[in-house]
Amino acid sequence: MNSHKTNVSLVGFMGTGKTTLGAMVAERLGKLFVETDEIITRAAGKSIPSIFAEDGETRFRELEIQACKEAAGMRDAVVSCGGGVVLNFINLMYLRETSVVVCLDASPEVIYERIMAEGKEKRPLLAKPNPMAEIKRILDFRAPLYERASEFHVDTDSLSPAEVVGKIIKIYDDNK
Ligand code: S3P
Repeated sequence: MNSHKTNVSLVGFMGTGKTTLGAMVAERLGKLFVETDEIITRAAGKSIPSIFAEDGETRFRELEIQACKEAAGMRDAVVSCGGGVVLNFINLMYLRETSVVVCLDASPEVIYERIMAEGKEKRPLLAKPNPMAEIKRILDFRAPLYERASEFHVDTDSLSPAEVVGKIIKIYDDNK
């Protein structure tokens, strides 16, 4: 068995609930909760929107690779990954070394509602005049990448947070 996998990594598009659900999973399993965005913010000394605006997306993606490597080096952590970690396959290679990787799915409509509730300014990729069109465009492009990111997918549209958390923990227990 892969008994070295003490971490759970959550991937999925923005607004699929990685942060909220990841924190709940961490609490239930008694693990540390970490976010790649948080590691990046700390390393750069500025917010995600500032990194995109001042240094560009390419720099952000470099920092994201470092953040995944750092997260993979932790033990007993639940890692909430930025929605774009699937863009660089090396991120998944790092995460898989120590994590059971689970992908959270949601429809564009549900993603739109969740992101609007939180404020689109926090997501530079969606700070556009027509965020719904952007969600659909990016989701379309990334769909095969999310598909390939993990063999474990949980649909967050129709399940309660507690039900999703239960599924994630079962997947982790069965595959750690
Ligand atoms: C991004 C998702 C964001 C953040 C950045 C880019 C993406 O994280 O990393 O704005 O490319 O999908 P969340 O998925 O936590 O919103």
